[in-house]
Amino acid sequence: MHKFETRTVTPAKGLRGELVVPGDKSISHRSLMFASLAKGESRVRGLLRGEDCLATLRAFQQMGVAVEERAEGELIIQGRGIDGLQEPADVIDCGNSGTTIRLMSGILSAQPFYSVLTGDQYLRRRPMGRVIEPLATMGARIYGRDGNKKAPLTILGGGLQPTEYHSPVASAQVKSAILLAGMQIEGKTTVFEPHLSRDHSERMLKYFGADIQTFAGGASVTGRAVLEGRDVEVPGDISSAAFFLVAGLIVPGSELLLKNVGVNPTRSGIIDILQRMGGSIELLNAREFSGEPVADLLVRSSDLQGIEIGGELVPRAIDEFPVVSVAAAFAAGTTTIRDARELRVKETDRIAAMCDTLGRLGAQIEPREDGMRVTGGEMLQGGKVSSFGDHRIAMSMAVAALCAGDKVEIEDTSCTATSFPNFWELLAGIQN
Ligand code: S3P
Repeated sequence: MHKFETRTVTPAKGLRGELVVPGDKSISHRSLMFASLAKGESRVRGLLRGEDCLATLRAFQQMGVAVEERAEGELIIQGRGIDGLQEPADVIDCGNSGTTIRLMSGILSAQPFYSVLTGDQYLRRRPMGRVIEPLATMGARIYGRDGNKKAPLTILGGGLQPTEYHSPVASAQVKSAILLAGMQIEGKTTVFEPHLSRDHSERMLKYFGADIQTFAGGASVTGRAVLEGRDVEVPGDISSAAFFLVAGLIVPGSELLLKNVGVNPTRSGIIDILQRMGGSIELLNAREFSGEPVADLLVRSSDLQGIEIGGELVPRAIDEFPVVSVAAAFAAGTTTIRDARELRVKETDRIAAMCDTLGRLGAQIEPREDGMRVTGGEMLQGGKVSSFGDHRIAMSMAVAALCAGDKVEIEDTSCTATSFPNFWELLAGIQN
């Protein structure tokens, strides 16, 4: 349970400095999962120590996986192989983490034991039918409350058959849940998706030695995979970098260098969006960490223009729309976001939350069924807003506050620990 904390953010002048944002949340979850399911030792460096990933770590410890912190920021995980997990003696608490509960649903559906997955009040409201239904067609005995749609989930694992699943949503959590179930059983499992969602599972499964094929429109895995322990270096999270990209663009006189940021093309939609809006963002020193592209990002204050956003760009920037709406509020003209209905079922309804919070500061922002319309260019005023318990809403509003006419009080900010435990320190460190 988060403690209730309110933070006041005051308008800033030029932001300057070099920053290293914490490890990528999606890649951190997967490194813990795949290292646990591998044979032998894995070493993970740069893991995000956020609440979400700690929930995944604790889940595997409950199933008998030994984890040791040898040096700061370096975990040694003794994998147990796909047949070595133990039945957890208690309910697994996934906290606020959609990635933990949905990917674990896939993993546990194929494990020959009983398990229960639950989470906080926000997670228990989110749709789980999207993983329950396809896993049930593979033969999984997985049950949820509210007519098999919500957590807590109960799983009586084992007895699965491979599948070919056409997902109606571009969701990496759905795709990964099925691939992770399929990976453990005989035969070939294939998932098709309407647009390519983040491909970290595919990349990392390959890196750990699984037989996985990717093609336009989906991915297949050949089952009874043997994963081998590996060394993983987790890149910085582009979704965390996004707050500083937008801050650097909208606060006049700013120049920030964000080091070691993951720029996987299935995640870098935010860079494309901000560059199309006229933002100056340079990618420097391009390289790879454990099969994932990485670069340093140099951002300088820029005059932004409103644009139209939709289609394949949406899954490539799905977690960044709260902060995109902030950029839009400071851009000349109108920005329209379409095809983003998924925002309604994130940690909170992010369309409603951003319309409420930015609206309270005087922004011209209107909800649409599948997105929003923001007309920018006017000065925002100070005021009081809520994060709605959502880490990305809290941090987006902190960025908006840097450029508002007066101080902004943000209620319920401890949720930032979900994905970005040192956000407030880094923000303070770049203000002169
Ligand atoms: C994630 C996938 C995305 C994203 C979430 C993390 C993942 O969700 O919004 O923050 O790690 O696979 P969906 O796959 O539901 O779009």
